Parts: sequence; C-alpha cells; structure tokens
Amino acid sequence: MKNYLNFKQTSVYKALEQIYSGPLPHLQSLRNKDKNYIETPRFIFDYSKTHFEPGARLFVQMLNELRFDEQKEALFRGLHVNTTEDRPALHTALRLPDSSDEFPSEEIKNSVIRMRNKIKDFVEKFRHGLLSGATGKPLDTVVNIGIGGSHLGPQTIVHALRNRNTAPYAFLSNVDDEHLADVLEQIDPETTLFIVVSKSFSTKETLYNAGEIQNYIKNKFGKDAIAKHFIAVTSAKDKAVNFGIDPARIFEMQAWTGGRFSLWSSAGISIPLILGYDLFEKLLHGAYLADRHFRDEDVLQNIPVIMALLTLIYNNLAGYESEAHIPYSEKLFYWPFYLQQLSMESNGKSVQRNGKTVDYQTGPVVWGATGTNAQHSFFQLLHQGTKIAPVYFTGYAKSETGFSRNRTFLLANLLAQAEGLADGKKSSDPHKNFEGNRPSVSFIFNELSAENLGFLIALFEHKTYVESILWNINAFDQPGVELGKEIALRYEQNFTDNKDSDNPLYRFIKRNM
Ligand code: F6P
Repeated sequence: MKNYLNFKQTSVYKALEQIYSGPLPHLQSLRNKDKNYIETPRFIFDYSKTHFEPGARLFVQMLNELRFDEQKEALFRGLHVNTTEDRPALHTALRLPDSSDEFPSEEIKNSVIRMRNKIKDFVEKFRHGLLSGATGKPLDTVVNIGIGGSHLGPQTIVHALRNRNTAPYAFLSNVDDEHLADVLEQIDPETTLFIVVSKSFSTKETLYNAGEIQNYIKNKFGKDAIAKHFIAVTSAKDKAVNFGIDPARIFEMQAWTGGRFSLWSSAGISIPLILGYDLFEKLLHGAYLADRHFRDEDVLQNIPVIMALLTLIYNNLAGYESEAHIPYSEKLFYWPFYLQQLSMESNGKSVQRNGKTVDYQTGPVVWGATGTNAQHSFFQLLHQGTKIAPVYFTGYAKSETGFSRNRTFLLANLLAQAEGLADGKKSSDPHKNFEGNRPSVSFIFNELSAENLGFLIALFEHKTYVESILWNINAFDQPGVELGKEIALRYEQNFTDNKDSDNPLYRFIKRNM
C-alpha cells in the first residue's frame, strides 16, 4: 500500500485547483433541481448545495490515477491497509451476513461467527434475567467502562435508539473521579453488569475506572462477586485474566478491528445488552448495506466518495479548515463526538504512507451540535462570519411522539438553514446582507431505525477511508495520541512522589488538590 499517489500528484490537480481555489461560483447558479441528489425510499442525500458539479469529470480521472478501485477492494479483501501496523482493517467483515462468501478467509469468517454467537448467547441470558449477581438478584443494568473507540460508538447508538425495552445503563469513559462517583451513585451494584472494554487492556482511564469499581464491588459483596459482575472485551486476554476477569467471560476483539471502527464487534456488546440482539443485528445489516453501496456503486453515485471529494474541494482547494455536523435530533446528540474520533483520529496525520511529509492539508477540524440549539449559538458565524465551514445536516422525518407542531418546526429549520446558507439574501444594509454561497449537505432519512443508523455510520467510515486515499495517508493508526500519555505518566509519578516541579500549573494544582 506504499506506492500510491496523493491527489496533488494526479494529472488533473492543476485543473481542479483552477476551478476551486479562486472565488467559487455562486451555489444559486450551480443548482439544478434534478441533479446532485441520491434518493431511495429510505433516504435522500442532497449535495445540490455544494460545488461538486464543476469538478465531477475531473474527479473521476483523479480516482482512476489514484487506483481507487484497487484500494477500495484492498479494504474489503483484508489486505494490509493499516500500513504502519502491517495489518488489515476489517470492520466490513464484522457486518457480513453469516452465510456470505465474501469473508476474506475461512479463519476470519469463523472468528466473526464465533464472536457473534458468543455475544448473542450472553445477551439472551442477560435480557431474560438469567444472569445473577453476588446476592442472587438478576442483573438488569449495564455499565460500559471504556474510552475512545471503546465508548463513543456504543454511546452514540444507545442514546439514539433507546426505547421502552432499554435496560438501565451508564457509560463511564473519563478518568474523572467525580464522574465515576456519579455513575456509582446512579446504579444499584447488586444488579449491575460492568463491561470493561479495552482492545489493548492497557488504557489507564479504563483500568483505573474498572479497578475502582472492582474494589467497590469486592468491599460490598466479597471477592467472588467479581466473576459475576464483570465481563471484558479485549484483544489482550491474558491482561484481562490478570485483572481478575473470569476467562469464560472475556469476549475477543480481533487484532484487525481498529478501536474507532469496532462498535460492530464485541466492543459494541453494550448495544445488544441494552437494546436487544435484534436491534444489533439490524444495525449490522444497515452497515452491510452501506458496504454494498460503497463497494458496488460508480464513483459519481457513491455517497462516501462524494463526501470525501467534497472534503477535497473545501478543505484542500478552497481552504475551509473545518466541517460542521448538525443533527436535527437530540437522539443524535453524540453524533458529532463520534465523528470527531472517526475523522480526526484517522486522518489527523502529516506523513504519507511512503514516509514523506505532506505538502497539503489532511483531516479537517470536525465539530458540531444539535439543531435547533446550534442555531441559537454559533450559526451567526456560519451565516455571516469570515470563516466558511461546510455543514452536514442530518435528520429524519418520522417520530412517534404526537407533538407534530414541534416536529414540523424542527424539520422546517433544517430545510431553512441549508437554503439560507446557500442562497443568502441581499440587503442594502450591510449588517443585514447575507452573501450566501455557503455549502451544505443534507442527509435525511425516513426514520431513525437501527438499520438507517448502521447505514449512516458505515458511510462515514468509508468517507474517512476515501479521504485517506486522496491524501495517501494511513487512516488506521493513531501514533499521535502516545506523547500525551507518556507525559501524563511522568506528572502522575511526580504527584505520587510528592515531587516539586518548575511548572507553575503543576505547583498550583498540587497546593490545591
Ligand atoms: O486514544 C487512543 C486509543 O487507542 C483509541 O484509538 C482507542 O479507541 C482508545 O484509545 C481506547 O483504546 P483501548 O480500547 O485499547 O482501551
């Protein structure tokens, strides 16, 4: 995977630069009501309020020169797309139907099916009240202890899809002691199952939280209670066993499952435990449909490819440095947080796969919040500020609350913002003038089902991968997170040893802790 070009090395780069690096043609002049929509009965993907069209033909040529099809197939076939760690990134295998003949190997197929059966079996027992805690009461509450990829996906999904059959739950990710105390206060330890999710089983935040809870449970119910109240998900089984988890209750996470792509694996076990296995299956199916779409569609009909090319237009050619994600739904509250890890941990890189430093932008700053709240907070800048951020609006039509006036107004706002940003509104009063020409994509579903959510998430996973192909970087490692971890250990040791330091912040904290 080391011998690929980056977008700047393709023959069409100069022509694309000419189109996109000067003032962009006004969106109103580009809009064509029959073009730049992808619609099915379940969703409409509208990119008609973007500047995609003028470069479309050149993009096809660019992707050919980047040997895009070959690189796309490499992902699905389990080639070592994670170049620095020399392994595949096989999240797509995690959602293949059991009967599929597209697993990259028999071994991978068996490991996925084995994992699924183990999850299903455990989930059924839990949801039927067949697992009991130390005092004999059935376990009915779930606490997921994990951070980053071992937290954000499950939390995003559980929050979005929770319903009347949802088990009580909490997510404990931050090492913040006050958050730990809060979670312990919310739950009844007698009936709680704690899941320690850590691929490496060496993430301090997770181990510290899990360690404190182990002590808490031991103090309450004795040391044998640990086996009843804890399960673990990891690639490092020995470490989990040493930590005191019952080996029979350790769920394997395959080495080829990257943390931020892992919600489809045992790392996502909190999802079926909290919401039910059926729903988890539907989520996987939705993601599988997205995989099919990505693998089969031509590039100009391919949603992840289009989204990645939009990143190229705005982030690399037009010089807009960020990308806002605005879900019109409180159920999708965590969507921007999830996307931040997916995009910024994957593509926040400065070195190409061949080891050379890039001379262009890579991953944009990803941010966002729910609409309409965001409209009353930062939308002023989006409409009239000096910075332009392409916006991804996400929403769905159906809800069952019966509060139809609210729903109608919510969705009217989504439509209004996309239109206002694109078209603007002329006024002779400069304070009231809206230039418009501010791009957005609207992705609207019929409803927020597990299948639709799985589909949406998997499309964004593929967007991330396509962007990394354009930039010729490895989307599947994260060496940049290591330095901070090292320095934190040093400070932790200094606090423990009661050492002094010339860092005034350290001194202040030490005096006041
Ligand atoms: O922040 C770095 C990171 O390694 C993420 O990539 C990962 O999702 C998270 O930490 C948690 O890692 P683990 O599952 O190994 O505890």
